Amino acid sequence: MAWTSLRSLLFRLDPERAHALASGALRVLGATGLLPRPSVDASLRVRCLGLDFESPLGMAAGFDKGEVRVLGLHALGFGHVEVGTITPRPQAGNPPPRLFRLPEHRALVNRMGFNNEGVEACGRRLAALPKEGRGIVGINVGKNKDTPNERAVEDYLAAIDGLHPWSDYLVVNLSSPNTPGLRALQERGPLERLLGACVDRARPLGKPLLVKLAPDLAPEALDEAIDVVVGCGASGVIATNTTVQRPGDVAKHPRAQEAGGLSGAPLAPLAMASLRRAYARAAGRIPIVGVGGIMDAKDAYARIRAGASLVQVYTGLIYAGPGLPRRVLEELPELLHRDGFASVSEAVGVDNRP
Ligand SMILES: Cc1cc2nc3c(=O)[nH]c(=O)nc-3n(C[C@H](O)[C@H](O)[C@H](O)COP(=O)(O)O)c2cc1C
Repeated sequence: MAWTSLRSLLFRLDPERAHALASGALRVLGATGLLPRPSVDASLRVRCLGLDFESPLGMAAGFDKGEVRVLGLHALGFGHVEVGTITPRPQAGNPPPRLFRLPEHRALVNRMGFNNEGVEACGRRLAALPKEGRGIVGINVGKNKDTPNERAVEDYLAAIDGLHPWSDYLVVNLSSPNTPGLRALQERGPLERLLGACVDRARPLGKPLLVKLAPDLAPEALDEAIDVVVGCGASGVIATNTTVQRPGDVAKHPRAQEAGGLSGAPLAPLAMASLRRAYARAAGRIPIVGVGGIMDAKDAYARIRAGASLVQVYTGLIYAGPGLPRRVLEELPELLHRDGFASVSEAVGVDNRP
């Protein structure tokens, strides 16, 4: 069945129900290996964070919240999968409805609120993953809703302790709009304390540790956050999470007034601006992962040219379907070769040099 027909069926379902079906299909796909994996051109290989990524394209956090659909997502063509956000203890998240489609804008609004089964359940599933054929796995960690910000560091450290054995890299998520007060941890003082402790914990484990930031930080606050990240010795930044803004025409959509983070096409200009600023400020000292509103290969390529060493998608997969990674993997080498680049790393930041 063509994707557009399947999508119109899926879009008749409640978004969380559709997600559960997709997740189930990925479990089967991962277990059976029914689908031949797309081939990946050698020009797409990326050496980043001390790791070898077969391509820059990854699955963003939040699709796999610990169910561990890594094999299925890898089979679709993703070179890395970021699992999470995982909190130390299980939590239900916000009451449904908490995920909304805005199809006219190729966007979503979500206020999931870190629904996940906690470190222990996620660790058990990760432990069962085969070592081969799974690509790079990132683990994105957060704090439980009922943990006050003053004790947030304990949650981040507990999640790192519990999950690092199965991770290739770790992400400290400070940018979800759906955990009250979380984003205040992106300010200089709290960020220095929290990140300093997490880097100290991750470094002896040999795990790169990144920070995921919001697109709603003022430019000066973003500069400051980058300085702190570099100063603490963290390995990189993910720009960005969802936005609490409702840019342009999106504001008129009936579901735009739902509380939560906006993702998808309307987020792209904000995420791109954050990426450009982060890349310029980092000045090559740390890599930046570009995410937010990447809907096709052209968008992914533009993000790379603006400074992203790696790119991630979530909402693009919902609208473009499971063939999206395959198409990106086909088209990205053509875009690189068209512009005379032999590899992704040659193209990183070419549009964003002083
Ligand atoms: C339903 C949903 C749940 C998400 N959950 C998380 C999460 O738990 N942790 C996180 O770091 N990001 C989460 N995100 C944010 C995505 O990882 C990504 O940063 C954001 O959606 C922008 O990318 P996109 O426009 O490609 O979707 C979530 C996004 C969506 C749509």
